[in-house]
Amino acid sequence: MNRTDTVIKVELGARSYPILLGSGLISRGDSYAPFIRSTQVMVVTNETVAALYLRKVKSALKGYEIDTAVLPDGERHKTLASVTGILDRLLQQRFHRDCTVLALGGGVIGDMGGFAAACYQRGVALIQVPTTLLSQVDSSVGGKTGVNHPLGKNMIGAFHQPSGVVIDIDTLTTLPGREFSAGMAEVIKYALIDDREFFHWLWENMDDLMARDRTALCSCIARCCRNKARLIAQDEREYGRRALLNLGHTFGHAIEAAAGYGNVLHGEAVAIGMSMAADMSSHLGLLTEGDARRIRSLLRAAGLPVSPPQGLSRRQVMALMQQDKKVHQGVLRLVLLQGIGEACLDSGFEPGVVEQVVACA
Ligand code: NAD
Ligand code: GLY
Repeated sequence: MNRTDTVIKVELGARSYPILLGSGLISRGDSYAPFIRSTQVMVVTNETVAALYLRKVKSALKGYEIDTAVLPDGERHKTLASVTGILDRLLQQRFHRDCTVLALGGGVIGDMGGFAAACYQRGVALIQVPTTLLSQVDSSVGGKTGVNHPLGKNMIGAFHQPSGVVIDIDTLTTLPGREFSAGMAEVIKYALIDDREFFHWLWENMDDLMARDRTALCSCIARCCRNKARLIAQDEREYGRRALLNLGHTFGHAIEAAAGYGNVLHGEAVAIGMSMAADMSSHLGLLTEGDARRIRSLLRAAGLPVSPPQGLSRRQVMALMQQDKKVHQGVLRLVLLQGIGEACLDSGFEPGVVEQVVACA
């Protein structure tokens, strides 16, 4: 490790692992070596990321038996069929149980590579190498893996923790602006959940962040990863506090599915969902209207939408919300806000309030 690199530990007993964060990490063999079990490494990526970074990763892994599964790009390809393609490749190339899957890309690749690693021979080693802001601050950490189903987002999946996460901040230089903003939605989420001080920091540093200033980005990503690592360590399987990470997601997943996967980006849907959660919290008297307004302003400053696209069916959004994984015994449970930095789980509201928020958005 270079002296400038940051290491954050996810404490999960026997399944603990480090998150390495720094510059130039994807080109260095020692970023991956501690997490590789045997000589066999399957790099799972997509066409876009392969063109940018596959060569660097492959040369860093000289000496290993490397094979690649290059998938088509996009949320609409986050399907069981794509995962089957990865599993086919592992079998065709005779990969053994001690092989390692290396997921190189954004959250879509991380979730599918992770799910293939969870399923192949009942579970093989996984290295997450996230290349979008969203995947660096959220999806690569915590072990949620899976795919979408036409009837619901992320409805098929498994928990499978990686052996290590390698975050190379330089990969963000090639990320399109809209994708960068989408990642900022998950960044803002951490501030809203339980880190009010971070909310103020984001206000003060938003210009630097949007200009992709390295120092600001490193501090921001490290803070998000620490916050997530803390929640995961408390509740790996989402029986309790981890559910707070779903702030905005029940609204967001429904919007994403109703708009057609890929039309509204995941991060954009989360931003709209957080804005709806803030509205609903203020309707219920939990959050002041001033704080709801401040949240919407910060989302807008990060280049994010705060209301769904025109023409979206509100009825379909409501139906999809009822199917969400956060429905317990038929009752919808939402993450709401009692203040900035004070998220809570709530199910004791009239269903009409949700309809009102969705209808007005
Ligand atoms: P994505 O994986 O689709 O990546 C966004 C786009 O950026 C893609 O076109 C990709 O090819 C491209 N890209 C990736 N890295 C790039 C780079 N460095 N330079 C240029 N282009 C690059 O989307 P995402 O926002 O990273 O992830 C969204 C997905 O993550 C959703 O499916 C969501 O459900 C999932 N997710 C999972 C978790 C979890 O805990 N597992 C958490 C949050 C989100
Ligand atoms: N992104 C939600 C979670 O990891 O639990």
